[in-house]
Amino acid sequence: MIMKMKIMTHFCNCAVFALLSLAACTEIPGDKSKPEWKESASGVWEISVGKPEKLNLLSELGLHPKWDAINAMPKADLPVDRDEIRFEEVDGKTYIRFPLDKGEKIFGLGLNFKTVEQRGRILELHVDHYGGKDNGRTHAPVPFFVSSKGYGAFINSARYIKAYVGTGVRKDTKNPPEVQDRNTDPGWSAQPYSDNLEFLVPAEGVEVVLFAGQDMQDVVRRFNLFNGGGVLPPKWGLGFWHRVPTLFTDRQVQDEIAEFRKRGFPLTVIGLEPGWMSRAYPCTYEWDATRFPEPGKFVNDLLQKHIRTNLWFNPGVSPECEIRDAIEPYTASHTEWNGLIPDYRMPEARRIMLDHFKKHQLDLGVSGYKMDENDGYDNWLWPDVATFPSGTPAEQMRQIYGSLMQRMTTDLYHEKNQRTYGLVRAGNAGTSSFPYVIYNDYYNHRDFITALINSSFIGVLWTPEVRASKTSEEWLRRMQTVCFSPVAMLDAWADGTKPWSFPDVEKQVNEISLLRMRLIPYLYTAFAGYAFEGTPPMRAMNLEPGYAADEQIEKGKLDGTENPYAMAVKREVKDQFMVGENLLVAPLFAGETERKVILPQGRWYDFYTGKLAGEGEVITVSPGLDRIPVYVKDGGIVPLCPPITELDGTKLPLEIRHYGSKPGTFRLYDDDGETYNYEKGEYTYLTITVDVAPDGSKQGKVSVPEGREIWSYNGEYTFRYMTE
Ligand code: GAL
Repeated sequence: MIMKMKIMTHFCNCAVFALLSLAACTEIPGDKSKPEWKESASGVWEISVGKPEKLNLLSELGLHPKWDAINAMPKADLPVDRDEIRFEEVDGKTYIRFPLDKGEKIFGLGLNFKTVEQRGRILELHVDHYGGKDNGRTHAPVPFFVSSKGYGAFINSARYIKAYVGTGVRKDTKNPPEVQDRNTDPGWSAQPYSDNLEFLVPAEGVEVVLFAGQDMQDVVRRFNLFNGGGVLPPKWGLGFWHRVPTLFTDRQVQDEIAEFRKRGFPLTVIGLEPGWMSRAYPCTYEWDATRFPEPGKFVNDLLQKHIRTNLWFNPGVSPECEIRDAIEPYTASHTEWNGLIPDYRMPEARRIMLDHFKKHQLDLGVSGYKMDENDGYDNWLWPDVATFPSGTPAEQMRQIYGSLMQRMTTDLYHEKNQRTYGLVRAGNAGTSSFPYVIYNDYYNHRDFITALINSSFIGVLWTPEVRASKTSEEWLRRMQTVCFSPVAMLDAWADGTKPWSFPDVEKQVNEISLLRMRLIPYLYTAFAGYAFEGTPPMRAMNLEPGYAADEQIEKGKLDGTENPYAMAVKREVKDQFMVGENLLVAPLFAGETERKVILPQGRWYDFYTGKLAGEGEVITVSPGLDRIPVYVKDGGIVPLCPPITELDGTKLPLEIRHYGSKPGTFRLYDDDGETYNYEKGEYTYLTITVDVAPDGSKQGKVSVPEGREIWSYNGEYTFRYMTE
């Protein structure tokens, strides 16, 4: 039975909900429901329909939407008629329908690994370890989509939401697809045009937020700003990370660091895997006295070397953990690998665990965490029948558990006024401002890059971390891409690999890891843009104005065994992305010697040589093994610091590169790199400009607002005009 909801009211900025009533009446075919949307900021509309649950994806996260930044954005109208977004109650659940035009593209809807454009897919959004299929089960199944029409919608429910992205065809559609005869028409399609994007939320009501934008990038920016903006990592987080084998001792870690230094490889963070703990899994969260007899001294020794310590843990509390009895009343009915699972919705659970973390990690100088295995699979994590003492249903807990862990550990560091940056395997909507990057065990290089691209639509960060490789070619290709990602990390927990593990490419790996260090000023500025303006630092080409996707849909041929329903195959571009304002990165994968690169409108220049690469066209490049293709926009400025191997706080000179023939401006962000003082306005922008005279000669200058502190640079600025 289908019933129509009456929408009584909506919610406001501060996310205080009015009490809603869901009045069911018999369906009146063709009757228009008139949801009332409220514009809560420029280009943001919110609605609350039916009886939304109090617990949703954002309710537990203490977020502060950046309304001022949203209102400062260029005005944008909604390109869809809000009345065409329909809400109904179906079988006690909430059915939402968005109109879909022919040719409209839909992006987002979770951290997908194989596809970028979601039209034609059916997803059930469910936090899980990615299992090899884009079916909705993933590490960050964010229920937010961006449409190529220039708007996006966020379905704020912590339930397993089903999404039918242009698959269902309603008989009352105003845009009926052509009826074809499969018997005789070879062009018959198993996917007739559907003008619907349909969601089924297993709850009696839901909040929906719409975001408009002059282009898709603006839509995503509004979504991120609504969630409090993006994270600004500490500067050391943008250096090079190395996670050592799980059973390494303090001595072995020190030796490994010495080897990094000896070989001239950069290192800013050491990650310790489960073996740092006295027991794991399940976890004690306490140091192992044999491998790390003096943990405080160990962490401090590393700090003296300007290396931060990041510690692995997962949710399950060991029977041997010193707070086991204290936490037990606040844990779930089910265990993870014999570990008690704290109910992080309970203040008592948070307090007990945080005191424990403080005592054993924070007070010793540990810089952050890798929070593992809070995603799935269902046979590790709790089943949906589990109960939690806070009364939170297992399904909702699954959808927000990673987000809860992110929030609570972020708060811990925030209280100390010390920024952290770490890794996590689960997140969801609302986590963009938390200092965590998602990773997993899936390890398909190509798909890792697709995930990197997709992360930019949904307000999360992803790293295509490097673990091992079959060949030196694969090793180098993976190293090249990870150095253009949110965390440049080698995760040698199982394989004991080192950056120099493949001697024949040691030099090239060294070069790319040093280039990562050189890019820190540029990357840090990109992250400031994420924090203050919501712009994803690494992002899909589709979010780039002037980019025309070279997508092809190949008509499927009817075949009795291979393709009995003649399904079409979509070929899309999912292997190149933008980094910061000016760089376009086009990775190569093992086995490839050349590739196509789609250059958006305008002229683009080779990052390494400054030579013109092309202009709004598809080019084919064969750069050799040593280099990952990187292109710079016309007029693009890229400030580089020296190829340092550590960040020791010394003020650095800059080599400022300018590309192409247009004048350029770059606002270089700077602050203390470590604390949250920037939230109180303690930051500066250095304005770099390059003027081009009528005779083509270039003149660069750096200006600093008077009286403002410069934390990172020493005033020695050398301009390099890369394009002659
Ligand atoms: C995996 C995780 C790895 C590593 C390992 C340690 O699940 O993804 O990166 O941390 O656990 O046991």
